[in-house]
Amino acid sequence: MARDIKSVAKHFHIDAELVDAKLLARGHINDTYILASEKHGVTSRYVLQRINHTVFKDPPSMMTNIIRVTEHISAKMREINAPLASRQLTVIAADDGRGYYEDIDGNFWRVYNFIENAVTHDSLESTELACEAARMFGWFQRMLIDLPGPVLHESIGDFHNTPRRSEVFQEVLAADRLNRAKDARPEIDFVSENLGLCNVLLDLAGKGEIPVRIAHNDTKINNVMLDERTNKGVCVIDLDTVMPGLSVYDFADMIRTATCSAQEDERDLSKVAVDISMFEALVRGFAAETSRFLTFVEKKHLVFAGKLITFEQLIRFLTDYLAGDVYYKISRQRHNLDRSRTQMKLLESIIEREEAMNELVELVFEKSSA
Ligand SMILES: Nc1ncnc2c1ncn2[C@@H]1O[C@H](COP(=O)(O)OP(=O)(O)O)[C@@H](O)[C@H]1O
Ligand SMILES: [Mg+2]
Repeated sequence: MARDIKSVAKHFHIDAELVDAKLLARGHINDTYILASEKHGVTSRYVLQRINHTVFKDPPSMMTNIIRVTEHISAKMREINAPLASRQLTVIAADDGRGYYEDIDGNFWRVYNFIENAVTHDSLESTELACEAARMFGWFQRMLIDLPGPVLHESIGDFHNTPRRSEVFQEVLAADRLNRAKDARPEIDFVSENLGLCNVLLDLAGKGEIPVRIAHNDTKINNVMLDERTNKGVCVIDLDTVMPGLSVYDFADMIRTATCSAQEDERDLSKVAVDISMFEALVRGFAAETSRFLTFVEKKHLVFAGKLITFEQLIRFLTDYLAGDVYYKISRQRHNLDRSRTQMKLLESIIEREEAMNELVELVFEKSSA
């Protein structure tokens, strides 16, 4: 067992002897370890994570958010679904009572209960899986509509601030320090022609026409834990980015990441397109949990949000390409340009099918709330 992990783990309220610790995943964002402890022959497992404090500038506030959210969900589930209540994320306190431990190097650590007999999937192999994942992110929203108290902290500033992203894009393009704009003319023109998309949702939110709710903000399939036997959703994890936001974004990110099976950096653009059966599965799952509380304007903008979030990602990849690959790691030349091309192709594909997709949303939501 790595000595330093053991020395970190002993700062948490684990009322048993630690017998094992191993690295589970070195994610893009956090490092995750599984701890095992033993007492009277009974083994309990925990998840220890080192929080990435370069991405999350204020881990204590982030943990305050997570504690409020997890406690609220668990309390609600104890009333409505006791078996699932014990399978929700719980923050294990550190010995000083806080939800995190800060080591001498300034790293922040936290511990959760390990969700047993549950799995995550890294890719969407079926429409059933897509439907269940979308349902769970809808469920997450439903659980939190009555979270009492002050608004949550903003764990990352300017998240989904597309107008800001477009400003940065324009600045980087104007400077074109590396003389790369010449390689990306069609993409630059496409972005420039579509900049009008950027303000639509924020304007609606500003006017109060779309409510600011609590968004998960990282609605990837591997952030849903499913029962390993039944494949039914158990809980939603990876709560670092939970903060005030628009509900439609959570659905939108699923459109971007789940309706197209091609990789984000696929060079064969003929493989990049929206799969309508996947989209329909997402709508069915999401609507099952949210149709009763989403407003008319929100429902009307679900597909639009999918467009916007894809556009935002296109802007981010393209900006990074022009800026010299400073944010997204690359493993080949023009990697970020390739990534921007897939986003552009996906966006074109959504635009092409937009009407049909909106009709589907209307139909499925109508059925769900009937
Ligand atoms: N409490 C938990 N119980 C069981 N497995 C977990 C738990 N938390 C995380 N995992 C596993 O570790 C993976 C990475 O954790 P996650 O919190 O999503 O971090 P990352 O930011 O790296 O995505 C998850 O996809 C899941 O498989
Ligand atoms: Mg994750």
